[in-house]
Amino acid sequence: MSLELTVREAGEEDWPRIWPIVHDVITEQQTFAYDPEMTSAEAERSWLVPAPGRTVVAVRGDEVLGTANMYANRPGPGNHVASGSLMVARTARGAGVGRALVSDLIAWARRAGFAAIQFNAVAETNGTAIRLYESLGFVTLGVAPGAFRHPVAGRVGLRIMWLEL
Ligand SMILES: CC(C)(COP(=O)(O)OP(=O)(O)OC[C@H]1O[C@@H](n2cnc3c(N)ncnc32)[C@H](O)[C@@H]1OP(=O)(O)O)[C@@H](O)C(=O)NCCC(=O)NCCS
Repeated sequence: MSLELTVREAGEEDWPRIWPIVHDVITEQQTFAYDPEMTSAEAERSWLVPAPGRTVVAVRGDEVLGTANMYANRPGPGNHVASGSLMVARTARGAGVGRALVSDLIAWARRAGFAAIQFNAVAETNGTAIRLYESLGFVTLGVAPGAFRHPVAGRVGLRIMWLEL
C-alpha cells in the first residue's frame, strides 16, 4: 500500500532532509536568485522562518519530498500580504507535491487573515511553476525584464504573481 502524501510543519530536526533539496535548487541556479555558495547553516537560517511565519515539509512516510516557507511579504503596513517559496526534490517532481505545498500555503494565508499572496520573483523560464500558480488562481502583475540570469537561457524576466484571497 502506498503511503499518503502529507504536508506538516517542519522543525530543526528536519533540516538534514531539507538541505539536499535546497542545495540542489540553489546550485542549479535555474529558479531562485539565492547565493549558490550558501552553506547549510546559512540556508537553514533563511529557510526555517520564525513564527508567525511557517516552514513545512511534504512527506511520504519518513521521506521528505518537498518544502515550502511562508511569511508576511513586508513588515509594517505591508504585512497583510503573504509570500513564500517552495522546492520539490528533483526525483519527486511532476507528481503533485508542488500542488500540495502551494495549496497548503494558500490555506495558511487564509487562516492567518492575509488579504493576498504575492510571489515576488518567478523566472519566466519556470513554466511548471507558472502553470501551477495560474491553475490555483494566481495572475501575473508584471515582469521585471531580464532580472534573472538563467544559466542556459541568459537574462530572463522575473514575474510578480498575485492571488487575492
Ligand atoms: C515548480 C515546482 C515546485 C513544482 O512542483 P511539482 O511537484 O513538480 O509540481 P506538481 O507535480 O504539483 O505539478 C504542478 C503542475 O505543473 C505541471 N507539471 C508538473 N511537472 C511537469 C512536467 N514535467 N512537464 C509539464 N508540466 C508539468 C502540471 O501542469 C501540473 O499540474 P497538474 O497537477 O494539473 O498535473 C518544482 O518543479 C520545483 O521544485 N522546481 C524547482 C524549484 C522551483 O522552481 N520552485 C518555485 C520557484 S517560483
